Amino acid sequence: MKYNIGLDIGGTFIKGVIFADGKPAGEYELPTPQTAKLDETLEEMVEKLVQGCGAVFSAVEGVGVGCPGTIDSEKGVVVYAANLHLENYPLKQKLEKRISIPVKVCNDANAAALGEAKFGAGKEYSDSVLITLGTGVGGGIVIGGKLFEGNKSAGAEIGHMVIERGGDRCTCGRYGCFEAYCSARALTRRTRWAMEDDTSSDMWKTYSYDSADGRTAFEYMDSDRSAKRVVDWYIKYLACGVANIINIFRPQAIIIGGGVSAQGSRLIKPLKKAVESEIFGGSGYAPVEIKCAELQKRAGAYGAAALFMQ
Ligand code: BGC
Repeated sequence: MKYNIGLDIGGTFIKGVIFADGKPAGEYELPTPQTAKLDETLEEMVEKLVQGCGAVFSAVEGVGVGCPGTIDSEKGVVVYAANLHLENYPLKQKLEKRISIPVKVCNDANAAALGEAKFGAGKEYSDSVLITLGTGVGGGIVIGGKLFEGNKSAGAEIGHMVIERGGDRCTCGRYGCFEAYCSARALTRRTRWAMEDDTSSDMWKTYSYDSADGRTAFEYMDSDRSAKRVVDWYIKYLACGVANIINIFRPQAIIIGGGVSAQGSRLIKPLKKAVESEIFGGSGYAPVEIKCAELQKRAGAYGAAALFMQ
């Protein structure tokens, strides 16, 4: 039996999965530790995953790791991951020293794109783009079944395409990025502003300024005008970003993941409608499917494991 492991480093949890002969065979999760303990925690996860399915280290072909931020995949170095406070962190080197198994590192959302393409919503397509709408906005491009990571495999940064020149400031320092408008954080901020502007909004019935989040406006969109306006605002910007990606890559499918995708058809239906009119030359000739991700929180770990199965 041949094994592959995938680890996805998130802001709060590290998700791990082990595959046996290409099939999921076990999972394990630990809270994300402080930077100093990262390699130790990853080693512990590898041990637990291997033990969990009665395997031995020598039967593991490789360990793939997904990490937010800029990754030098060739060297396996985390060049910069703001959320994790990592800079020039030699992850591959550190982990290989501990476990003596080959390690590959890639951007988390790029890994998730590969995960969805191989095992989830993108299975039927050779060309797909995943967009993750979470705390940040990330994404990945799969062309001909393979992850496209660009020069030095730095990884696609879909969330940092500008969709409103001179617009809201992004965490990356630019203004008007896709992330600054379409992350769960941006949606939460907009919802709270709408509540402040409209003290008679139904949203106040259940939520306070601080407890309102990215779900609040969707919850009230059918009964409350201010909530509906927030959702319309969000869909308008999301459609702009999605249409840009469609016009550049002409993928067969756009897969929407991340926390906001839990809205399902409440998000996808109006999004499809809004995107339709922005596709260059119309969508008749090269139709594109817009759908929700299927693997949810597992996508990144599945894709990281697949780095050794491409
Ligand atoms: C980061 C990406 C990451 C995404 C999802 C963005 O803010 O720039 O590198 O993939 O968040 O975690």
